[in-house]
Amino acid sequence: MAEITTDINRAKALLDAQEIIGLPTETVYGLAGNGLKAEVVSKIFEVKNRPHFDPLILHSHSLEAIKEYVKDIPETAKTLASAFWPGPLTILLERNSKIPDLTCSGLDRVAFRIPKHPKALSLLKILDYPLAAPSANPFGYISPTNSTHVQQQLGDKIQFILEGEISEVGIESTIVGFENGEIIIYRLGGLEIDAIEKLIGRVKILPHSSSKPDAPGMLKSHYAPRKKIILGDIEKLMEQNSKLKIGILSFSKSYKDAEISLVLSKSGDMHEAAKNLFSYLRTLDESKVDLILTEKVPNEGLGKAINDRLQRATIKD
Ligand code: TXA
Ligand code: MG
Repeated sequence: MAEITTDINRAKALLDAQEIIGLPTETVYGLAGNGLKAEVVSKIFEVKNRPHFDPLILHSHSLEAIKEYVKDIPETAKTLASAFWPGPLTILLERNSKIPDLTCSGLDRVAFRIPKHPKALSLLKILDYPLAAPSANPFGYISPTNSTHVQQQLGDKIQFILEGEISEVGIESTIVGFENGEIIIYRLGGLEIDAIEKLIGRVKILPHSSSKPDAPGMLKSHYAPRKKIILGDIEKLMEQNSKLKIGILSFSKSYKDAEISLVLSKSGDMHEAAKNLFSYLRTLDESKVDLILTEKVPNEGLGKAINDRLQRATIKD
């Protein structure tokens, strides 16, 4: 079992000793280690059982500190950074040779994010290296939004989890990058596209691919529970599966006839829905139901990122 405390000095001591730890962020919990050391990054891949073609995000406390690791920062990136950092946005930038190939899976760009979570930020400020941190779940499974989730899944593989309460945003960061003058969204996430477009104009959203993705957060199957889960019209699906014990994850309406019915947000609030998404999926996956039924939420604001996660949670490949 991992030790769980709020002590950032203890976290720093372990990280300085090249250990990896559970890290709270406002999006999801990360599995963090010194992103400049290939040996440490290699441990992260191993503990997560993550394929090496899937690069990691580096976390820092300031744009000034990030400048040390990248070639140049486009004006649009600066505009985005000053508006949304710290926060749930990851920006892809041309990297220099201070970052090991393994961190970026050999790609020319590195992903950087400044998290808003106060514990994560205070820790990053006392470190003299950025933290590589993928979500702290075994590859392909549901992302963790509190320290208990991390303990349950990776507690026997890491020594320490920094306690930081529940992740307020609840879904991973939005990933943005620049190609031939175009602004590209590689992963929908906790920062709404509307907010980005209001600031810098139209962006292009990349569709998911099932092999060799540019950002493997875009792999079709991801965030998937172990139980069978179907996305669609809940009432119809209940009729078709009336002999089974059913668990339901719905947007705003609850279902009396189900064994378990979890509602993402009774008032239809998209932020509340995002915050509850992964933890409710996990509750259903751990429950005694035979089948999980879920539905799309309205496709607006964070709803787009929620639907993206739901869609991929229901695909097995
Ligand atoms: O909110 C988040 O972003 C969380 C917290 C912990 O910060 N982290 C997270 O990491 O979601 P992870 O590893 O689960 O997802 C990172 C995604 C991956 O799909 C990866 O492919 C993409 O970022 N990525 C990282 N570096 C990249 C690069 N150089 N080029 C393209 N995609 C990259
Ligand atoms: Mg992940």
